[in-house]
Amino acid sequence: MKDRADSEQVSPTAFATGYFWYRHGLSHPGLVGPEGERLYRRFRLLMGLVKGVSGMSIEALMLARHKGIDAILAQHVEAGRVGQVVEIAAGLSARGWRFTERYGKRLTYVETDLPHMAALKGDLIARAGLQRPNHRVVPLDALLDRGPRSLHELAKSLDPKQGLAIITEGLMSYLDPHTASAVWRRIAGTLHAFPFGVYLSDTYVRSDRYGLGGALFRGVIQRFVRGRMHVHFENVPQATRVLQAAGFGAVTMHAPRDLEATRELAAVRGGDRVRILEALATAS
Ligand SMILES: C[S@@+](CC[C@H](N)C(=O)[O-])C[C@H]1O[C@@H](n2cnc3c(N)ncnc32)[C@H](O)[C@@H]1O
Repeated sequence: MKDRADSEQVSPTAFATGYFWYRHGLSHPGLVGPEGERLYRRFRLLMGLVKGVSGMSIEALMLARHKGIDAILAQHVEAGRVGQVVEIAAGLSARGWRFTERYGKRLTYVETDLPHMAALKGDLIARAGLQRPNHRVVPLDALLDRGPRSLHELAKSLDPKQGLAIITEGLMSYLDPHTASAVWRRIAGTLHAFPFGVYLSDTYVRSDRYGLGGALFRGVIQRFVRGRMHVHFENVPQATRVLQAAGFGAVTMHAPRDLEATRELAAVRGGDRVRILEALATAS
């Protein structure tokens, strides 16, 4: 993905994933977008095709990534390390709503996405009566270094005394390596300004071997978004080097079998093909 116009092609995928979360009991009916059910039906056909051809369950992979990020975020919130979250490219995911429901005033949650998606999400939340004072949706473009829609600017509105988690889910694979590294640098740089900082994301390493199922899935999604999808890392040591070069300290690439919340999903082929990246701003 080279520029912002390309990046916008990714937005419709958020309708399909939003409906997917809803179908799996991870969202609210009010957060399902206008195109959700129709796009989800196409997505389900694709998942069925991948499963039939390769035995790989994209469903298990998606659930492992979503629940894995939830589980690690919850650990940080419950330990009192994180009091605020910025989710980049949140799409129609219900994590912001679920976490502010669960933790109330203990957590400030800022969801962000490109302007049209952020506006839609804000409308859906308002229409469904799901607003909370500590939960907001704002426009943000992850590709901007500075300016009103940048992470840099948003960070100024946060509490400098509270630990911060920044999340990306389902975004980084759409970015080319150069663009992705710049996003990671912006995230690491932002986290350094807070007493505790952690970045959480779904991520993929070639050594996890995606095979025919992975190639088929990637091929169809690439046609849909009219852009390339990228697996950024060869293996865990190389991922660690790249992320540390971007400014992170300790890096853990959790396998779903290592997290209680995702262990059952990891037993399904596909559920073991995603890693939950947890990168701290500091070395420990
Ligand atoms: C595959 S969806 C994932 C949505 C959500 N995180 C989920 O897992 O359901 C990708 C999202 O990335 C957003 N996006 C694409 N380019 C972006 C950018 N440059 N900055 C912020 N968000 C972007 C799209 O609008 C879309 O909502």
